[in-house]
Amino acid sequence: MNNQVCRISGQSLTKSVDFGRQPLGNGFLLPQDYATEYFFPMVVGFSETSMMLQLIEQPAPEKMFHEHYAFYSSTSSYMAKHFAEFAQSVMGSGYLARIDPFVVELGCNDGIMLKNFFQAGIRHLGIEPSRNVAAVANTHGVRTLSEFFDEAVARNVVSQDGQADAFLAANVMCHIPDIQSVVKGIQALLKPTGVAVFEDPYLGDIIEKTSYDQIYDEHVFLFSAHSIKYLFGLHGMELIDVQAQKTHGGSMRYVLAHAGAYPVKKSVTELLAKEQALGLHLLSTFDKFRKNVERSRTDLLALLRGLKAQGKRIAGYGATSKSTTILNYCGIGPDLIDYICDTTPIKQGKFTPGMHIPVVPYETFTANPPDYAFLFAWNHAEEIMAKEKDFMAAGGKWIVHVPEVKVF
Ligand code: TYD
Repeated sequence: MNNQVCRISGQSLTKSVDFGRQPLGNGFLLPQDYATEYFFPMVVGFSETSMMLQLIEQPAPEKMFHEHYAFYSSTSSYMAKHFAEFAQSVMGSGYLARIDPFVVELGCNDGIMLKNFFQAGIRHLGIEPSRNVAAVANTHGVRTLSEFFDEAVARNVVSQDGQADAFLAANVMCHIPDIQSVVKGIQALLKPTGVAVFEDPYLGDIIEKTSYDQIYDEHVFLFSAHSIKYLFGLHGMELIDVQAQKTHGGSMRYVLAHAGAYPVKKSVTELLAKEQALGLHLLSTFDKFRKNVERSRTDLLALLRGLKAQGKRIAGYGATSKSTTILNYCGIGPDLIDYICDTTPIKQGKFTPGMHIPVVPYETFTANPPDYAFLFAWNHAEEIMAKEKDFMAAGGKWIVHVPEVKVF
């Protein structure tokens, strides 16, 4: 899918960073599949009209979200806690009807958040295109349809279950190229008093931390309050609240309602002002970002090659989708990183997309610890540091690339 024009404003996009040829972020594979591995040119573009940073080209969604989708939300205990809190905040928000509220979640994955509504006896429906994870949700008692959400699906839901009090999504909205259809669906789905509450990695954090690894095939959009306000404004909806989140290295939760249904909270005006100061509405900001990304690559390669020259052993920690961008953009392969450990069984025994570094079970890391561990799952740093006291006590060191390349 080649999109030289902004998916929101229809204006032409200005190229900002070119990450070169990239495979699927989650496309862990076996050697027999190397010959047919899929690659696409990954370039981000910006429109000053919509203020939306976005991938210019993106693989078809069917290539990324299917029955072999390698991502299960419930692999992190911190994320399970985060989603329980997200669910509690919606239940306690006052936006749900007192009698028989109805909550819909887009991209409910294995039911990590909706199970909290299920357990509270709240009428719910999950919509999850990846059939394997949707099946897991259903076995947990979370009512889930395996579909791509759009206006037509929203109208079907309304005709069967009625309008919803809340539409929820976490790390999903930024994945959907035809987001206009989703927003139209949300508009049709919600009661006049209903709210959409969703969170995604936040562009402000990406710019401030040079966390360019948040950019990969699945993240077609990198949202800010400016771009969300613009996008929903096109469909008669208003941004009424925002709440910064620590997840995924810095995310933003957005609350939207039909225009005029609720007052706009101070949090929104404050965030818009902060974004203006950071220049998230300006093309020139993304020129600076490109320079920072290039510098990060130079520093990282110098560090890894230097350590390797000293005979140090380097492994990766967490075979994240994010790491695919770093590895392929910087050209880091098994010559620099021996293996990447990961707790997700479906990734183990496979090789990383594009650069083909072996992914091994976590036990390999404890049995055969490296001198340096590149923290690819840096968004889970707190959880991992708490778990890896022995590695550090034995002299093991960490490499991170955000907010700058360093060893600690
Ligand atoms: P995630 O944070 O979802 O990143 P992305 O969206 O970029 O894929 O993925 C975290 C990965 O790290 C996941 O594959 C599980 C793995 N992981 C570990 O191996 N050990 C850990 O202690 C944690 C927290 C995660």
